[in-house]
Amino acid sequence: MNKILLFLFTILSLFQKIESQSDTLTTSQILKDGETIISSDGTFELGFFSAGKNSSSTNRYIGIWYKKISALTPIWVANRQIPVKGISGILKIVEPGYLVLINNVTNDTIWSTNFSSISVKNPVAKLLDTGNFVIKDANDDDDLLLWQSFDYPSDTLLASMKLGRDLVTGLERYLRSWKSDDDPAPGDYTYHCDPTGYPQDLMRKGPNVVYRAGPWNGLRWSGAPNMVNNSVTSFGLVMNDQEIYYKYELVNKSLLTTLVLTPNGNAMRMIWIDKREGWVNYHSADADHCDTYKLCGAYGTCTMFSDPVCRCLDKFVPKHPDDWNRADWSSGCVRNHPLNCSEDGFIKYTGVKLPDTRYSWFNETMTLDECKLVCLRNCSCMGYTSLDIRNGGSGCLLWIGELVDLRQLSESGQDIYIRMAASEISPIDGSSRKTSIILAIALPLSIAAVLLVIGVCLILRRQKKRAETMLIEKRKLDDSNNKDKNNQIRHEALELPLFDLSTIMEATDNFSLENKIGAGGFGKVFKGVLEGGQEVAVKRLSETSRQGNDEFKNEVSCIAELQHRNLVKLLGCCIEEEEKILVYEYMPNKSLDLFIFDQRRSTLLDWPKRFNIINGIARGLMYLHQDSRLRIIHRDLKASNVLLDFEMNPKISDFGMARSFGGNETGDNTNRVVGTYGYMSPEYAVDGIFSVKSDVFSFGVLILEIVSGKKNRRFIHPDHNLNLIGHAWMLHREGRSSEIVDPNLVESCHTSELQRSIHVGLLCVQRSPEDRPNMSSVVLMLTNEGILPQPKAPGFFTERNIDDATGYSWSDQTPCSVNDVTITLLDAR
Ligand SMILES: *[C@@H]1O[C@H](CO)[C@@H](O)[C@H](O)[C@H]1NC(C)=O
Ligand SMILES: *[C@@H]1O[C@H](CO)[C@@H](O)[C@H](O)[C@H]1NC(C)=O
Ligand SMILES: *[C@@H]1O[C@H](CO)[C@@H](O)[C@H](O)[C@H]1NC(C)=O
Ligand SMILES: *[C@@H]1O[C@H](CO)[C@@H](O)[C@H](O)[C@H]1NC(C)=O
Ligand SMILES: *[C@@H]1O[C@H](CO)[C@@H](O)[C@H](O)[C@H]1NC(C)=O
Ligand SMILES: *[C@@H]1O[C@H](CO)[C@@H](O)[C@H](O)[C@H]1NC(C)=O
Ligand SMILES: *[C@@H]1O[C@H](CO)[C@@H](O)[C@H](O)[C@H]1NC(C)=O
Ligand SMILES: *[C@@H]1O[C@H](CO)[C@@H](O)[C@H](O)[C@H]1NC(C)=O
Ligand SMILES: *[C@@H]1O[C@H](CO)[C@@H](O)[C@H](O)[C@H]1NC(C)=O
Repeated sequence: MNKILLFLFTILSLFQKIESQSDTLTTSQILKDGETIISSDGTFELGFFSAGKNSSSTNRYIGIWYKKISALTPIWVANRQIPVKGISGILKIVEPGYLVLINNVTNDTIWSTNFSSISVKNPVAKLLDTGNFVIKDANDDDDLLLWQSFDYPSDTLLASMKLGRDLVTGLERYLRSWKSDDDPAPGDYTYHCDPTGYPQDLMRKGPNVVYRAGPWNGLRWSGAPNMVNNSVTSFGLVMNDQEIYYKYELVNKSLLTTLVLTPNGNAMRMIWIDKREGWVNYHSADADHCDTYKLCGAYGTCTMFSDPVCRCLDKFVPKHPDDWNRADWSSGCVRNHPLNCSEDGFIKYTGVKLPDTRYSWFNETMTLDECKLVCLRNCSCMGYTSLDIRNGGSGCLLWIGELVDLRQLSESGQDIYIRMAASEISPIDGSSRKTSIILAIALPLSIAAVLLVIGVCLILRRQKKRAETMLIEKRKLDDSNNKDKNNQIRHEALELPLFDLSTIMEATDNFSLENKIGAGGFGKVFKGVLEGGQEVAVKRLSETSRQGNDEFKNEVSCIAELQHRNLVKLLGCCIEEEEKILVYEYMPNKSLDLFIFDQRRSTLLDWPKRFNIINGIARGLMYLHQDSRLRIIHRDLKASNVLLDFEMNPKISDFGMARSFGGNETGDNTNRVVGTYGYMSPEYAVDGIFSVKSDVFSFGVLILEIVSGKKNRRFIHPDHNLNLIGHAWMLHREGRSSEIVDPNLVESCHTSELQRSIHVGLLCVQRSPEDRPNMSSVVLMLTNEGILPQPKAPGFFTERNIDDATGYSWSDQTPCSVNDVTITLLDAR
């Protein structure tokens, strides 16, 4: 007995010894190619690697990567410029305390760290759990450092790394992109936290600023609404006498994260990875067209999806109208009336990304009124605003000289007060100051009053809602002579706000035609504005449709329980008299089909956006199929049922045809085939068998449509009769899949993501449902870089073979030009 215990104990301690050694390199050790050291909690690994996918490349680099992610994601590279040729590299730490990488064959020193002014007795290099590789004394704690990799970032910002400047030593920590996905050498793009004027994030290409995230406003960079404290990450700017830096922290340490400056510079992409579930989440500060630095010149403002994107601020006119009309906005705008320094005032502009602060001045303690006075007294001060927008605003930020690089941000934009000639402020009489003071007092008051009223309404409504909590009969849809279990009727109380018919009539102006934004098989869709100003989409079921009744209940019961960022949100419903109405959140950018199939608008959706849309739809569908409490099969996934929010995030809509299932069922069969031509899988269209795999098929079609910008249904090619699916498959087999890519995307050089998406699309449209992957595999395949299986032949790849094979006739669905929530219903005879 004793022996056994002793034995166990020895193994344990032996084990610990190895574990504790493996995160450290001592002066008596060397690290050869093929060996690695691993941080003590197993998160990070350091060693030699080859960049990119060229496995025959002999270029070797010392780097750090996430050990737990199978696809190699280097977060730091030591010898970026000079690779080791072949596997003869050796990393060692030498007295008095620096790291050196040498080629053992040629004896060349390839890379080394600098000498430190501190000298220690027993230097070691250690890989910390944060991903920081440090040189320190073996016996000291981890804070006394001779050198650290966090001071020399590559293209990646990890949680708790500092991006910014040490004012004492002058050290600047900034990101520099790789040259390409295969080459870690310093690329063209850099990302800085620039302390000139007032700190802001700047992305440069070479010496030129190409993108600005805007100044820090207490919550976030003014122009990067995504990057705010949330349940996963917190962001902050630290500014004191010693240093100015930006950083983020993980709220939940069980996640992994990186913020990467990509080689093409068009994205700062943040990836969160849940170690437990392998869940990958993109949260990117992708720059869009309006983020192009100074696109609209001084006093010009950029609005995405308006045409043209640039216009002058109110009370400004183009400086050179001819250039302006030729869509060259760089000369910007000038005031209608020139300034007269002593007699000027200010006009407030709302919802903007604050202008470039490199020529600005700030004071953290002043009030906005003091700020105004300072600005007024200095004739070159052109505008001012609060420095920190938390708690109603504090501090003073003012601009010296022209205001450049403004854009409109409707949800998260800020206020700015811009200097204006007195005559502009009040053209009729001279009481301009008085008016603005009255306004300044009256406006907040009236806003407060409105808020109060809304609040009271909400409380009343909630009470009413509780009283009326709806009992909705949830039952599987008709469909036949179904088996016993399908006839079970479940009663379930749904807590869903009920709207009064009168409220809805008012919001939609009595369902006026002007507010109609779409129509479909069993209802019309209207845009409405509720009392508080909230925009909603109102779906009104046609009164006569009995079918619609079932679909209504179905939709309500399905959606009311679903909550996901990639599903459109149901705000409430109305059942009064003969009316059955659903109220949804309103999606300002309407539906995906209006972008990808439109020549002009498709240029607004670059590849990063489209890839984000594909991933969003995949996650929404995965939620429906396996993560929501009910299993839901959508049955009518198509481009016009994918709505886009303000930031072009996709939301799946229209659950009129959806079917829910218990835990273990995965499909069913029906004699009423509903769906849309071009998106339906063969087994469903022909035999009425549907399953999660029929949704996967529709998703595959959607991927191919998003990549190609062409409709599967109406695809025409001079050489053959194939539809888009068939065409994509043919090209894929011939190794020419890139030819299918939308010409608008060709320049974006994201070849591997494009190829991967086409490949996954083809896997989804395989003829046999068993061959198609499920949505969780699809999500992983899209975002990880593993090897994908070869797709087999797709189903329905010529236009003709369906009609011939089935004898069904299909009514032609002409998509509505501005449909927000459309419904397509096709009954197979
Ligand atoms: C892969 O690397 C080798 C050696 O560096 C090079 O000769 C070859 O052209 C590379 N192949 C590709 C596809 O980049
Ligand atoms: C380095 O090279 C020498 C001689 O060329 C050889 O003896 C030694 O084993 C090599 N060391 C490593 C770590 O490969
Ligand atoms: C490399 O340097 C070591 C020590 O400086 C020396 O002993 C060795 O002979 C050198 N090897 C070659 C190939 O020059
Ligand atoms: C060494 O110091 C120089 C200048 O101080 C700096 O540019 C360089 O990046 C440092 N290199 C390393 C590897 O620390
Ligand atoms: C964001 O989170 C950090 C860390 O929890 C906190 O210090 C900071 O105040 C938060 N910022 C805001 C605006 O709430
Ligand atoms: C952190 O995330 C994990 C996995 O997502 C979860 O199980 C855990 O409860 C979270 N912890 C905290 C403190 O939120
Ligand atoms: C500004 O306006 C005042 C009062 O109208 C006038 O006296 C003054 O000359 C003007 N100054 C300039 C520079 O136009
Ligand atoms: C900021 O303004 C306050 C109040 O006006 C003043 O006391 C303080 O000196 C100013 N600070 C700076 C740095 O100018
Ligand atoms: C206006 O303010 C700027 C920045 O503080 C300063 O450089 C400039 O001299 C001031 N101009 C006048 C006229 O006070």
